[in-house]
Amino acid sequence: MAQGLDVGTMNILSSRQEGDETVFVQQRNSFVEIDYSDMADQMLSRSDVLHIRKDDKVYIVGDDALNFANIFNEETRRPMQAGILSSDEKSAIPMIKLITEQVVGQPQSPEELLFFSVPADPIDEDVSTLYHQKTIESLLGSMGYQPEPINEGMAVIYSELADHNFTGLGISFGAGMTNVCLSYYAVPVMKFSIARGGDWIDEKSAQATGTPVDKVTSVKEDDFALDFETDVGGVEGALSIYYDNLLDYVIQNVIKEVDDEDVEEDLDVPVVVTGGTASPDGFEELFAERLNEANVPFSISGVRRAENPMYSVAQGALVAARSEEQRAMAERQSGETTPEASE
Ligand SMILES: Nc1ncnc2c1ncn2[C@@H]1O[C@H](COP(=O)(O)OP(=O)(O)OP(=O)(O)O)[C@@H](O)[C@H]1O
Ligand SMILES: [Mg+2]
Repeated sequence: MAQGLDVGTMNILSSRQEGDETVFVQQRNSFVEIDYSDMADQMLSRSDVLHIRKDDKVYIVGDDALNFANIFNEETRRPMQAGILSSDEKSAIPMIKLITEQVVGQPQSPEELLFFSVPADPIDEDVSTLYHQKTIESLLGSMGYQPEPINEGMAVIYSELADHNFTGLGISFGAGMTNVCLSYYAVPVMKFSIARGGDWIDEKSAQATGTPVDKVTSVKEDDFALDFETDVGGVEGALSIYYDNLLDYVIQNVIKEVDDEDVEEDLDVPVVVTGGTASPDGFEELFAERLNEANVPFSISGVRRAENPMYSVAQGALVAARSEEQRAMAERQSGETTPEASE
């Protein structure tokens, strides 16, 4: 058995193959701290809410954090920010450990292979993803897994472009980041991230309209569509403006990176967009239109959105893990049979 894991700024998801089905387990990558009280203790002990108590505080993690934050009038906090472990959050590591443990469960065999997603280094922020990657790796190792990092953009290629020889441009529009990977026959020829995604859209739209960020996020996730109908002055109008701006920014950076990295220019590749931020109706049409208008130095055979934008990174990590597992098994078997064959 092998497992895939998407470690995202907003969502942590695992994926496993069970028979013909891929099973996903998801939790929000968030938590809330409340004061310990008899009432809290009673509520929690009678439920299956994920929590730990430390001294006179109780931490509720994952999907239930938001409900408890509302009941106890507290803010939710996040272990990650802009794609990597947050340096401002002192409880980041124990909280992400708890969420990850719940999502991946126990290894089903000793040293079970687990591929986990990591973002590429951002080109617009002076931060490195190395500390994040090594910390997650060590948490997974201590749970009994054999962890392997996989680039988030490459995971998109594995999950969405098997029918195109793993060749194309995969883009994951997440909460904290946008990850881009251009792959040619399963070899990444260009990968980078930018430190903007859904959170950036929410914050900018909130600032512009004087609306609380949580309200903006729920308007966006509820029934917002990129249908070019303008809602001048409203939250939806602001969301459209910042969506448009994010897409242009991503495209300008693709062009810049292709130039800098000397990517072969006579390519003709499909583009796949995914991630929660790619969810609104009209997203892929808008992206295709903006790509069309830009001077991209290679040709694009089409723009498609992943069938399930929230699951494709976890799915791609699983594809990579299973393929590595099979490769290792074949290698072991040929190692076992070689001495006999030579006799
Ligand atoms: N229906 C929707 N419409 C618009 N945005 C959505 C929708 N559903 C989720 N989102 C947004 O998608 C983002 C979460 O997506 P995703 O789970 O892919 O990110 P992540 O993997 O956790 O983050 P990252 O990859 O940046 O670390 C959030 O900004 C969320 O508000
Ligand atoms: Mg992601």
